[in-house]
Amino acid sequence: MKKRVTKAIFPVAGLGTRFLPATKSVPKEIMTLVDRPLIQYAIDEARAAGIKEFIFVTSRGKGALEDYFDHAPQLEQELRKKGKDQLLQTLKDTNMDSGAIAYIRQHKAMGLGHAVWCARRLVGNEPFAVILPDDVIAAEKPCLQQMVEAHEETGGCMVAAMEVPHDKASAYGVLDIKEDMGNMVSVKGMVEKPPADQAPSNLAVIGRYILTPKIMQNLNQIKAGSGGEVQLTDAIAQEIEHEREVFGYRFRGQRFDCGSKAGFLQATVSFGLAREELRDEFGQYLDEMVSMRAAVE
Ligand code: G1P
Repeated sequence: MKKRVTKAIFPVAGLGTRFLPATKSVPKEIMTLVDRPLIQYAIDEARAAGIKEFIFVTSRGKGALEDYFDHAPQLEQELRKKGKDQLLQTLKDTNMDSGAIAYIRQHKAMGLGHAVWCARRLVGNEPFAVILPDDVIAAEKPCLQQMVEAHEETGGCMVAAMEVPHDKASAYGVLDIKEDMGNMVSVKGMVEKPPADQAPSNLAVIGRYILTPKIMQNLNQIKAGSGGEVQLTDAIAQEIEHEREVFGYRFRGQRFDCGSKAGFLQATVSFGLAREELRDEFGQYLDEMVSMRAAVE
């Protein structure tokens, strides 16, 4: 029987320099879409997929992340006293069981592959998920859950995949497709951030992975790749060289690149409009903005 995926790694060691000066004192994963930090979206998605153990790979200056996941008894008491039941529930929903979260430090910024490798002892000999909180995915069925279900059929390694414009492929890990089965492709190669004219396709890796423990062994001996960093993409590509299966999964949902300012703003608008309590007022404001812009043009 295949082992269930119950562990997820959240690489959150990045400096978030694109969001300076905010990220001087606030980890970028704490930045909020409407009223929830990016990391909360990632945790909710993991929970929906059946993840029970949450492994954060952090770095210096990320203390606010640990605090965020602590319980807030005083605040809870205050809300209870004031009868603010809904807010109390919102707060409680973010509580994590004691022992469910582990924090590992990545001492040097050596790339995503290295960050994942830092968690090797906690992962042990089990398949595990990796979630990049920068990639926020709005979906009816959360993306990782879709992937866990698909993975139960396929085994092997699986990465979330999405078509991107050809001239954008060089910003991603890119899949070389062996066979296209619609919502899934089997993969015969993977390249991290290829030059635009060398991308094997325009099917890009998005930040959700289900990986076998073999990946940790590959990461043990892998050399720095694209950008001088240890790349997760390269460790997965090694699986193909060893004739083990790798799949790309075309998820159903909308992905926002919250590692970029434009993507973050788009996500803010989209998640704002999705909120019932904001929809009317915020939607009306947006309509006005759009007509004002049209009038100016
Ligand atoms: C990382 C991965 C890349 C993937 C991307 C998705 O790159 O290395 O393969 O396509 O996430 O967001 P980063 O955006 O961290 O440079």
